[in-house]
Amino acid sequence: MDEIAGAKATSTNGKHKLPGPKGLPFLGMALEIRKDPLGTLQWMAREYGDIVGFQALGMPRVLLSRPEFVQQLLVLDHAKLRKSPLTKMAVGPLLGQGLLISEGDFWRRQRRLAQPAFHRVRTNAYAPVMVECALEQAKQWRGGEARNIAEEMMKVTLEVAVRTLFGTSLASDSENIGRATTFLMRYHLSRARTPWRVPRFLPTPANRRAERERDLLDSMVYRIISERKKETQPRNDLLTLLMAAMHEDGTQMTEQQLRDETMTLFLAGHETTALSLSWTWYLLGENPAAEARLHEELYGVLGGRPADVGDLEKLPYLNAVVNEGLRLYPPAHMMARTNAEPVRFGGYEIPPGRTILASQWIMQRDPRFFEDAERFLPERWLDGLMERLPAGVYFPFGDGPRRCIGQGFAFLETALVIAALAQKFQFRLLPGHPVVPEPLVTLRPKYGIRMRIMKRAGSDD
Ligand code: HEM
Repeated sequence: MDEIAGAKATSTNGKHKLPGPKGLPFLGMALEIRKDPLGTLQWMAREYGDIVGFQALGMPRVLLSRPEFVQQLLVLDHAKLRKSPLTKMAVGPLLGQGLLISEGDFWRRQRRLAQPAFHRVRTNAYAPVMVECALEQAKQWRGGEARNIAEEMMKVTLEVAVRTLFGTSLASDSENIGRATTFLMRYHLSRARTPWRVPRFLPTPANRRAERERDLLDSMVYRIISERKKETQPRNDLLTLLMAAMHEDGTQMTEQQLRDETMTLFLAGHETTALSLSWTWYLLGENPAAEARLHEELYGVLGGRPADVGDLEKLPYLNAVVNEGLRLYPPAHMMARTNAEPVRFGGYEIPPGRTILASQWIMQRDPRFFEDAERFLPERWLDGLMERLPAGVYFPFGDGPRRCIGQGFAFLETALVIAALAQKFQFRLLPGHPVVPEPLVTLRPKYGIRMRIMKRAGSDD
């Protein structure tokens, strides 16, 4: 989850110079990268190979696109690497020392603490809430109307996250929360990308708005925590686990730590899943044959009722649709690490302090591993492709010790929401609406995804 902008030829201090753009072609490319970061990175990987060195914002970067190198980055050399400073600058001001960016023993302890809340049995118990939230949102839709499906999905997953993880509801606040999150993501990322930043304490319009939006999110998180503290009935959700957790010396998490973890799980827990749903609706809308096959499978197995966990193994095409959506539009499109000590990839030694990148967007669209790589073909997953792919090619949830804690939760939610809604509705992109993936911390549709919502014949409401 990083960006590149402006690049010039670079080398490591090691024996071999890294391949990469050099000299004049590079100047034009700096502009290209600003204009089209995903396409330019993809081009660099194809042009220069499995390891590329370049500079962005005056910082040397390394891009890896050989599966073994990606595995090494995320799994084997995990202990030598940290989350990149750019990631920390982009999300740190909002997430503090939450699970996503904390490091070392502190991270390990917090991860152990949160892990039981994501146990499969517990996650599966959330299935009815996931379906309920989707159907409740859909009650507001009138047949034939156009809506921004990305916003609609954000509302669904926001409500799922707060109901399941924190045992409360936020429906009336969801618009404000969505707006605040989008603004803060753009604001912090653009600050992280800019070497000359206006200090945050100066009262510029952007700084003042950032403060207001952050206060809004903070007050929501603190309200959730304080409501829970007043409750006398014991509960069994994530927030309870976090609040009850004890350090070895017998002290509990400070208010600040509790805030950071709650904010992290709240944001990581709803934003990415909303994107996986939104991109999948877009892909289905653009591929009516796949959509028809999905509908046939769903209707054959479920006959119009929502799916439950036990149904998923009878719905191979639905699983394939979710995998394929995550392949083409991975909500987390880039992993970024920095090395505290030298690391070696193949014949290249990377000196400490480099930003090292591996991109889901690049690997998962690589024609070396996927036939017709740019096309939406859920069928490709039906004959054991997942098992045949080398590790380091398909990693929408990351890999290694820092793999997504919410993977099971997210997959279940995406599959159940699609199963429930695809039986009732068809979504079609409005003609002329531009769908542009914007690689912020997550891969967002820059102008939203405006789709016409059509009720299926026989759908009861
Ligand atoms: C489709 C949805 C999702 C995608 C694509 C996704 C993707 C990822 C990825 C790629 C990472 C690894 C980041 C890295 O190694 O730098 C990650 C970490 C994480 N995710 Fe997710 N995620 C999703 C849903 C969720 C959900 C539903 C939750 C919680 C309810 C969640 C919570 C987290 C947390 C806390 C981490 C940090 C884990 C750690 O470092 O120990 N994610 N996610």
